[in-house]
Amino acid sequence: MCGIVGYIGHRDAFPIIIKGLQRLEYRGYDSAGIALFDGTSINLAKTKGKVEDLKNKAKNISQEGKIGIGHTRWATHGIPNDVNSHPHYSNSGDLVIIHNGIIENYESIKKELIKRGYTFTSDTDTEVLVNLIEEVKKTEDVKLGQAVQIALNQVVGAYAIAVFDRNKPDEIVVAKLGSPLAIGIGENEFFIASDASPFIEFTNNAVYLEDEEMAIVRLGKEIKLRKIKNDAVAYPRIMELQMNLEEIEKGGYDHFMLKEIYEQPRAIKDTYRGRLLAEQGLIRMAGIDQNLEKFMNANRIIIVACGTSWHAGLVAEYIFEDLARIPVEVEYASEFRYRNPVITDKDVLIAISQSGETADTLAAIKLAKEKGAFVFGVCNVVGSSIARESHAGAYTHAGPEIGVASTKAFTTQITVLTLLALKLAKEKGTFSQTQFHEFLTELETIPSKVEKALESNPLIEIISDVYKESTNCLYLGRGYNFPVALEGALKLKEISYIHAEGYPAAEMKHGPIALIDDQMPVFVIATKKGHYEKVVSNIQEIKSRKGKIIAIVTEGDEQVTELADHVIEVPETLESLTPLLTTIPLQLLSYHIAVMRGCNVDQPRNLAKSVTVE
Ligand code: M6R
Repeated sequence: MCGIVGYIGHRDAFPIIIKGLQRLEYRGYDSAGIALFDGTSINLAKTKGKVEDLKNKAKNISQEGKIGIGHTRWATHGIPNDVNSHPHYSNSGDLVIIHNGIIENYESIKKELIKRGYTFTSDTDTEVLVNLIEEVKKTEDVKLGQAVQIALNQVVGAYAIAVFDRNKPDEIVVAKLGSPLAIGIGENEFFIASDASPFIEFTNNAVYLEDEEMAIVRLGKEIKLRKIKNDAVAYPRIMELQMNLEEIEKGGYDHFMLKEIYEQPRAIKDTYRGRLLAEQGLIRMAGIDQNLEKFMNANRIIIVACGTSWHAGLVAEYIFEDLARIPVEVEYASEFRYRNPVITDKDVLIAISQSGETADTLAAIKLAKEKGAFVFGVCNVVGSSIARESHAGAYTHAGPEIGVASTKAFTTQITVLTLLALKLAKEKGTFSQTQFHEFLTELETIPSKVEKALESNPLIEIISDVYKESTNCLYLGRGYNFPVALEGALKLKEISYIHAEGYPAAEMKHGPIALIDDQMPVFVIATKKGHYEKVVSNIQEIKSRKGKIIAIVTEGDEQVTELADHVIEVPETLESLTPLLTTIPLQLLSYHIAVMRGCNVDQPRNLAKSVTVE
């Protein structure tokens, strides 16, 4: 959470930092701030609210300067107000800092600094850190880089920081532990950011700091990395970025979420392209090919993830057990990491994460590795912490997902996990070559079937209008579509703030049925393959209690169509591939309802795209 941006070079820093912050707003949008050095003094503007508000506020300061730092905040310590916004000055006014993360022991450090005469204007842990750096710099009589290093060795927590000292205006000191930090390397200029989107139009070359690394980014010098703990030199690994500008812009859509929903046919295709070789009857995935033994000898697969990625994990549980006959457990990463789980070196842990930065998922990986498990990462963001921490993995090729609500990340995660399950099924012989071939051929049709599902958008808009004022909604599905029901409910609640619950359809009669009356919309996934008759019975139960039924059905359906208040059709496919289609109308429903309610769909309240705090 929180986005940080910095610039040092020959261009005006202000527009680069403002645009960079706008691109990072998905990481948090409680407040925003900027500090620029004009050659003599630091000019700072910060405000509660979004980067747009900051642009107004910054009209009151000089926007001059070729060096600067900026921040967009997801509040942890201290309410979102002007004072708690970043950047934060040290007491002398010499140092200024931006920070993404949490300093857990900030209270004890703060008490000690107060004893030494420091005062604090904000409630943040970050203001404590910048003053600790100042205190170290003064008492130990060291330069900024060393002061940062000594101070960081005294703190417990997570951080990506950038610190500027007005007495040393040719450098910015950066450091990372647990939160992402990239340095873009241009021609005699450097960019600092939480991800590469703020600098992609300036350079394709970037260094991603590893945990416990710091760097002094100095004009006219090469990047030098050091280990924070022992000062050992680390060598920068310069990556060539594949991202392009078009991918991170809205491209004519009103919202990123809608654009990303519509990108799914392309994203799914990109995810299996080069891996699914239907004609040759092959699936080629380097991360699996090189580690096949680990999977073949695994006692079980444990899947850890959070939120939407956890729902993709639940779909994968059905696929792995159904196709490859491997026992699977799916866990919330946050529970797994704290419950002393039994893990052995015969376990394979699959970590699923769009951002690759989710703190709980990362911690779960570290725990599993310590206990000897083999860790396979399924991430979307290339070079992310989870991708790097895993022993092996497979990227989803969804492209940047900027809307806070996950859409294309979900379907591409399911695509990768399906490929993995199919490959293992073939290797284990639980699937005949004919079945395997049929499956691959069907998987190749999914992008065009998703396109077909998207054609229901006008109808979905009409249905959304009917239910936009609802206060509660139920989502029901069975088998492969039970996780889709959970995902549908999550999508609705997170962007429209309507209370929604997902349930396995048959569980309804164990409690939730008490909620059903003529005001309750119930979204039911009732595709032909997958316990159809049972779901029809569940629909009857809802109908006899006057609930409103909105059903997702297979094209040509008659039985449910007769019973339901509204039906939305999706093309027919194999049962295990239905989640890739049934999730589409539910995404669109949430989107339209949220827009009609006047909600900010791309930046829903209280949320952030990348949850780097636990
Ligand atoms: O980046 P991750 O996939 O690890 O994020 C996990 C969750 O925070 C995320 O899926 C969240 O639930 C979605 N943004 C909801 O749409």
